[in-house]
Amino acid sequence: MTHADVGPRHATIQDLAAHVGQEVTLKGWLYNKRGSKHLLFLLLRDGTGLVQCVAAADSVDAGTWRVADEATQESALTVTGKVVRDERQAGGVELVVSSLALVGASAEYPITPKEHGIDFLMSHRHLWLRSRLPWAILRMRNQLIASIHAFFQERGFLQMDAPILTGNAVEGTSSLFELDYFDEKAYLTQSGQLYGEAMAMAFGRIYTFGPTFRAEKSKTRRHLTEFWMIEPEMAFFDLEDTLGLAEDLLTRVARDALAHCTEELAILGRDTAPLERVRKPFPRISYTEAVDLLRSDATARMLENRMQALEEENAALAEEFAANRKRYGQAKKGERRRLDAREIAIRRRADEIAEALQNLPAWKDSARSFVWGSDFGGSDETVLTWHFDRPAMVHRYPAAAKAFYMKRDPDDARLAMALDVLAPEGYGEIIGGGERATDLAFLEEQIAAHDLPKDAFEWYLDLRRFGSVPHAGFGLGLERLLTWIAGIDHVRETIPFPRLMGRISP
Ligand code: 4AD
Ligand code: MG
Repeated sequence: MTHADVGPRHATIQDLAAHVGQEVTLKGWLYNKRGSKHLLFLLLRDGTGLVQCVAAADSVDAGTWRVADEATQESALTVTGKVVRDERQAGGVELVVSSLALVGASAEYPITPKEHGIDFLMSHRHLWLRSRLPWAILRMRNQLIASIHAFFQERGFLQMDAPILTGNAVEGTSSLFELDYFDEKAYLTQSGQLYGEAMAMAFGRIYTFGPTFRAEKSKTRRHLTEFWMIEPEMAFFDLEDTLGLAEDLLTRVARDALAHCTEELAILGRDTAPLERVRKPFPRISYTEAVDLLRSDATARMLENRMQALEEENAALAEEFAANRKRYGQAKKGERRRLDAREIAIRRRADEIAEALQNLPAWKDSARSFVWGSDFGGSDETVLTWHFDRPAMVHRYPAAAKAFYMKRDPDDARLAMALDVLAPEGYGEIIGGGERATDLAFLEEQIAAHDLPKDAFEWYLDLRRFGSVPHAGFGLGLERLLTWIAGIDHVRETIPFPRLMGRISP
């Protein structure tokens, strides 16, 4: 069955290969156009893909030719024609147009094929969504969501929803969005976890999948103020069980992305080798071992080697740049287009290298002088991930750096039974979680020690009054996961309408 069998009677671009030799009708928008007086190549997009539609002046009626000739970028069109095989085209097919009709004209479209700055694109996000890179990234987001649900459903987990409006903090009070709830204070949830624990006591194994909010005043490539979190919570699971679950989940997600997102990964230019390496077992190291590794000579040497490799790459790029410039004068049109594209790529890479070379010395110092007891900063996580070829699982963090609900390590009271998963290739934390404290008196103490209002947590404490059991869970940030899987450098491109400090529109 093709997707078209269940939809309306017009075809979709993703299914065209099944219609070779047939006449079909497509409905979409004009992505790009080139051609001559008598022959036009219209690149049509319909959301499912792109296809080249060829219109020849002498084989279509005058009305069709006028529409084709006058159609501007993003005009909405109905296109009828015959599907023919053409191996040079992306989907292996193109459409020979027999008729064309205008559905909706398009005024001068602000996003042209030339380069635009990120602020401009972000301000036009409602339109930018139609472009190829957002298309690829957000289709992958859909795939990740489908994989995550399939993974948990196949294992008998129930999906349960935690409230978004809450009366209590979960992850510290400094990142709360506060609102007025009929003259009472309320907050946008930072995490569904506490409710997840209640639901795990009722249903055994559950996961929540919903929006969460952090009023973090950090403008980094890893932070959104609104993001989606997947939070499994399991009764009778310990830290080891939970590490195993995280490992299985990430393995599944990476495997599905490789199997189902080949076109998207190709559009993004994603090197798939690191995704192929996402196999069990993942390295498991304790926080203390991670600190030792950060401070080690091995880390210092690794960073020096990286800097040297970047210097060498920079020199090679500069040479190529100069050589291309020399060639440009004699180059023909096609060759010039290639050289222009290469110049843009070289400049972009040179910017990245410059940024890295500026950062790395400070990162090296910060790794060397890292003090046991604090939480890892973004750069410390990045440096750690460079030691591993797949996600790394760090466990048993200093309790003082973690949330009030963490269970203590029975072998060392300074430690919490916490876990973080760091995505490789420098991406850093994508999962945070651990085993939960089960003892009523201990939790009461912690709530006081963290200066939290006990009243707001009475319902949570009930979970320790009525059949308290060992349990554990974690939160996986969907956008951070996608940033890594897609291999892009900023989390803002992984959600249709990102909410960042300083951006609430569109
Ligand atoms: O490590 P965090 O803060 O853990 C919790 O919220 C736990 N209550 C989860 C649990 O145990 N059920 O957040 C979990 C994950 C992070 O690892 C990260 O992937 C993501 O949520 N995350 C963010 N993603 C984007 N922008 C932000 N500002 C994020 N803060 C956390
Ligand atoms: Mg965390």
